[in-house]
Amino acid sequence: MTSQPEEVDTTSRTKLAGSAYKDEADLAARQSLYAWQQPSYDLPGIVLEHLPASTTSVLDLGCGNGKFLHRIRLERTHALTIGADISPGILTPLPPPTVAVDAAALPFASGRFDVVLALHMLYHVAELPAALDEIRRVLVPDGLVFVSTNARTDKAELDDLWSAAAADVLGVTKGPRRVALSERFALEDAPRLLEPYFEQITTVDLPGVITVREPGPVLAHLRSYRAWADEGGVPFDATIDRAHELLVRHLDRRGEFTISCRGGIIVARKSL
Ligand SMILES: C[S@@+](CC[C@H](N)C(=O)[O-])C[C@H]1O[C@@H](n2cnc3c(N)ncnc32)[C@H](O)[C@@H]1O
Repeated sequence: MTSQPEEVDTTSRTKLAGSAYKDEADLAARQSLYAWQQPSYDLPGIVLEHLPASTTSVLDLGCGNGKFLHRIRLERTHALTIGADISPGILTPLPPPTVAVDAAALPFASGRFDVVLALHMLYHVAELPAALDEIRRVLVPDGLVFVSTNARTDKAELDDLWSAAAADVLGVTKGPRRVALSERFALEDAPRLLEPYFEQITTVDLPGVITVREPGPVLAHLRSYRAWADEGGVPFDATIDRAHELLVRHLDRRGEFTISCRGGIIVARKSL
């Protein structure tokens, strides 16, 4: 018997601002798994490499805990870099200027920014065309947008681990899928989705392999999806506990657990 996955809504503003990103805890848990990735990428460094020297204004849309914001402010001191996010809670610890916004309705004048970052966030936006329209509107002609997301096959081993654990908990042969955050704006689809709004679209592929020898980082990552626990079609804590057991068994046998990563950053230009 197979348990069908329920449709998980990863765009609910109430859930994003009130739970998933009410503070940085779950986002930081997901980010920390990359400490075990090879090759390791300096993601803010990659963005900085592509940022024109003439940049004087940057909007970091969906800035989360400010990983990119901090580095850009540090290394481009002459540029005004504004952090913006739908969650007022996650903005609270960040130094100003920050502003609580919805990407689909930006409170900025047209042509206000040289660069907009929309990193790992467009998959959370229900009205994607409105958000892309807004990003384009607030950019200067010839301005750049940086977008990042993951491919559909990203971290497939975690999907398999979750499904196996969920199947055991439910007593079925195939358990429901893990929440797939980036699926609504996957790396494979992103250039096509950006094409009506931007030109000169280039993708920087960032493949890698995470190798862990203890279960902690993987369990922290799985737990970081708690905001969507009620939509997953399986008791969340019981599934985490079972995933822990399966992982320990795997590590006892093999000594390591590997996760393949398929992420990317896309750079695109607003036409003149
Ligand atoms: C996965 S985090 C990415 C954070 C950061 N950009 C990074 O790459 O480290 C997604 C962020 O987008 C924000 N977000 C989601 N939907 C949004 C929307 N419609 N408008 C603005 N921010 C949004 C979330 O609150 C969260 O902080």
